[in-house]
Amino acid sequence: MNGTLFASDAFPIAKIDRRLTSSLVEHLGRGVYGGIFDPGNVLADADGYREDVIQAIKELQVPMIRYPGGNFVSGHNWEDGIGPKDQRPQQIDLAWKSIETNQFGLDEFMAWLQKINAQPMMAVNLGTRGIPEACHLLEYCNMTTDTHWANQRRKNGHPEPYAVKTWCLGNEMDANWQIGHKTAHEYGELVNETAKAMKLMDPTIETIVCGSSNEATPTFGKWELKVLDECYDNVDYISMHQYYDKPDHGTMHHIAKAIRMDQFINSVVALCDAAKAFKKSDKVLNISFDEWNVWYHSNDDTAKVSPWQEAPRLLEDQYDFQDALLVGSSLITLLKHADRVKIACFAQLVNVIAPIMTSSTGMFKQTIFYPIMHVSKYARGTVLRTNLQSDHYDVPEFGHVPYLDAIVVQNTDNDYTVFAINRHQTDAMHLKLNLGQTQFHVLNHICYQGPNPHFQNSEESQCVPHQLNSTYNDLTLPAFSWNVIRLRKK
Ligand code: AHR
Repeated sequence: MNGTLFASDAFPIAKIDRRLTSSLVEHLGRGVYGGIFDPGNVLADADGYREDVIQAIKELQVPMIRYPGGNFVSGHNWEDGIGPKDQRPQQIDLAWKSIETNQFGLDEFMAWLQKINAQPMMAVNLGTRGIPEACHLLEYCNMTTDTHWANQRRKNGHPEPYAVKTWCLGNEMDANWQIGHKTAHEYGELVNETAKAMKLMDPTIETIVCGSSNEATPTFGKWELKVLDECYDNVDYISMHQYYDKPDHGTMHHIAKAIRMDQFINSVVALCDAAKAFKKSDKVLNISFDEWNVWYHSNDDTAKVSPWQEAPRLLEDQYDFQDALLVGSSLITLLKHADRVKIACFAQLVNVIAPIMTSSTGMFKQTIFYPIMHVSKYARGTVLRTNLQSDHYDVPEFGHVPYLDAIVVQNTDNDYTVFAINRHQTDAMHLKLNLGQTQFHVLNHICYQGPNPHFQNSEESQCVPHQLNSTYNDLTLPAFSWNVIRLRKK
């Protein structure tokens, strides 16, 4: 089977925002406790942070972490997670029907970010709370004034402000499962006033308004237009969330689902531009795709967990190889939209629908870890418009699906990286690269190919990427594989 890829530096899409491979850490299940924070475990450092997990996150080179949720944020009082640990209240978390000990809070999160070299992306509670609490949190994080919350930060041992730039104003506020769910009108007004107040305090911040919680919700579109009508001038991004469900229509349909992400982004871009036109605004509103992943493997186990436990096993999906190809294809899709998608968070990071899984004695990297790591490491620079030719197959919902999915990134004047998937389950694809007149040589070709679509990594058995000996004129994408081809001009 043959595939051809055409791209040229004469046709750039956009410079890639480093924040495209950000992630989410939520107080949910073992995401924090037993995941990143595990005091007393021999694998944790003196402050209680799991060192094996820090090492794996550093390999992912995650630039920014959204925190503390997710649904959790909509019932959370951030003040309960600061100050002396023996005085922090133990509480009910209504979002996940769990017990929150508050032993890990804002200052522990900031200290952990230093260890993994990442920036914070803070979410404020606009479910059960409002403008004052959001402003107090901003004051604690960013202000140098001689005022109550800035002084509390100093008292807690942090004289310098955290300078948090990126702020999510609530989480999935359209969703009926959200604590403190609001109508579009109520939420739009609240966001406008909250963003206005926060920007009065610190004009350097950027704010993200919640778009719809998913593309299938009946209010999708209407929600975006109404909310943006209320708050367009005071927000900088609109959020998108998307989780892919189980492969009800088979593997070939499952690995094509990033087409939904592509259509969803096109729709939200159109809605942002419509809002811009209604407002007669000069401002282009960009997208923060701040939750996305595959999520279905753990549903039955999660349903059996009894409520009101500390750090129960929730949403512990075990990903397989077909999920890794879908995640790879989603990353290619996000790169294709780098002109409008500036932030994206794969959700989540550890144990909860995550690339990294821990036990009390170790950790392992799920299949989806590898495409995320490759894109985080090598998608630096400018995405080029990439045209593809290959055979296709047909599935319901998507019609013709090409076997080849790919994108080209120009890293520097001389270095390029091609990310490519061969979706064919049995046949290798000979890939012809057409990158203009220039000749290239292959620096390396990394290939990730699982033994079968249903293969899952575990602590005992791991499928990892390997190197292929390829040349520019002789490139083969093995059947059902994810590939990273790094090129240098001759
Ligand atoms: O990531 C899991 C949950 O999915 C988040 O808490 C919520 O925002 C979304 O519905």
